[in-house]
Amino acid sequence: MDRPSWAPADVDLDRPSVARVYDYYLGGSHNFAADRAFAEQVLKVMPAVAGLARSNRAFLRRAVRALAAQGVRQYLDLGSGIPTVGNVHEVLADAGVTDGRVVYVDHDPVAVAHSRAILAGVPGTAVVAGDLRSPAEVLAQPQVQGLIDFTQPVAFLLVAVLHFVPDEQRPADIVAGYAAAGVPGSHVVLSHAGLDRPLTPAEEEAWEMYRRSPTPLILRTNTQVEALLGDLTALPPGVVAPHAWRPAGDEEPPPEGNAIGCVAVARKD
Ligand SMILES: C[S@@+](CC[C@H](N)C(=O)[O-])C[C@H]1O[C@@H](n2cnc3c(N)ncnc32)[C@H](O)[C@@H]1O
Repeated sequence: MDRPSWAPADVDLDRPSVARVYDYYLGGSHNFAADRAFAEQVLKVMPAVAGLARSNRAFLRRAVRALAAQGVRQYLDLGSGIPTVGNVHEVLADAGVTDGRVVYVDHDPVAVAHSRAILAGVPGTAVVAGDLRSPAEVLAQPQVQGLIDFTQPVAFLLVAVLHFVPDEQRPADIVAGYAAAGVPGSHVVLSHAGLDRPLTPAEEEAWEMYRRSPTPLILRTNTQVEALLGDLTALPPGVVAPHAWRPAGDEEPPPEGNAIGCVAVARKD
């Protein structure tokens, strides 16, 4: 298959990647045949996935707007994905924040390359190729240390990523590892695929496809997701479905069959 000019040389075109499959759900163009084939298989059994991806992005935007309104200026977007409409720095700019700082972190080579291309020359932003499961390593990166002032509140975004981290890799410790680096007034923003109600047969089938993929999806109940927050305090309305977190009224209605997953924005006191 032809390698598009934007594809980094070291990327494996034959294995679907969650970043590029998600890009396809969102209508993006930074994906390959293997990603599209996988996404189409999932969409065939569960067409609601595309709406769930958009609903997740809409939550991320509302959460950033809410934190910006509280004065949070610094954001570490962990597992930030392939840049799409409404990236964190754009949401901040739209909210009138002129001194925002955002570091985008991902381990997918296409996500990193495309983020670097889009963000070149955008002040207050940086891109790091890193594994979010190692908070100490991510936090020690020169771009993170150079851009983020850890004496001021930071928002750590873990949006639609922790469901790729199995229990053995201690997702709660990952959340705690980031939260420990923030001063009081810092926040964790989290969204997670869920198991808060019995899955429909179509959802079971879609889940099974991810389980057999290079990146299995771990579904957790709302209670299990709440436990990931440790001693952080969830802001109202708590741990809820993405569309139920401070709906703005100007976004598309929740996907039919309702969300399988939950979100939270939690503060370090
Ligand atoms: C479903 S996408 C979510 C993107 C974005 N956070 C959002 O919610 O729109 C998951 C992203 O997390 C990234 N990711 C998964 N595991 C990761 C890890 N261990 N370290 C860094 N990035 C990771 C993937 O490459 C992908 O870009």
